[in-house]
Amino acid sequence: VIDVAFTPRELRDARVAVVIDVLRASTTITQALAVGYRRVLCCRGLTEARALRKPGRVLAGERDCLRPPGFDLGNSPADFRLRRGDEVVLTTTNGCPALLAAAETAGEVLVGCLLNLAALRARLEHEDDVVLVCAGTDSEPAVEDAYVAGLIAATLPGDRTDAARIAQAMARQFHDHGAALHAGRGGAALRRVGLGNDLAWCAQESAVETVGRLAAVVGGVAAVEPGIDETLLKPQNIVLATFELGA
Ligand code: MLT
Repeated sequence: VIDVAFTPRELRDARVAVVIDVLRASTTITQALAVGYRRVLCCRGLTEARALRKPGRVLAGERDCLRPPGFDLGNSPADFRLRRGDEVVLTTTNGCPALLAAAETAGEVLVGCLLNLAALRARLEHEDDVVLVCAGTDSEPAVEDAYVAGLIAATLPGDRTDAARIAQAMARQFHDHGAALHAGRGGAALRRVGLGNDLAWCAQESAVETVGRLAAVVGGVAAVEPGIDETLLKPQNIVLATFELGA
């Protein structure tokens, strides 16, 4: 069945979970992997993120939309135009916790946004047990995440829950991505702090082929890597990812 969780609290078991925080964590993770960062290490806390810093890792994230003190980058996808290291450590208010929550319930966790919409749809084409997990804003549903969930749900085959039907109906109300991204509290918060340009970046559809995939969770840190070509997913080719937490 194709389902939508409007907030991570409604998460249920599924074979595949797609985490959506279009403004901006899932867009930023996708952008970072698309420019060649090998891995994005997503964590909840600022202290945790700082402890993960080491040469070759870029420290990025936001609190109240803004780059935390001492961090290299914020959470703007535009900050990831160019690769500045090998890995990213990312901490955000809603997106990173949503990823960690999804990791507890789904067999496979993917990262979805508008930037990778076509690639994601292609990846999900034959999946019939999918939950589209909206990160939302501070435990409440967010228009822009539900909108993207609705766009994805609309093209997937098979049965869908009423939540998926609601998201699809909602997505049809908007003429374009920009309008949907500007409609909620998340868009307003970004405009308020002068980050309105991020909305246009996040509204780009299918600009990259990369679909981030959760490779491992170690000590409360979720490692997201560029998706693996399905043809390589023969049991003998699966190697469990590991990564070092410390400096
Ligand atoms: C989040 O994870 O809470 C968001 O991505 C917030 C933001 O981008 O400012």
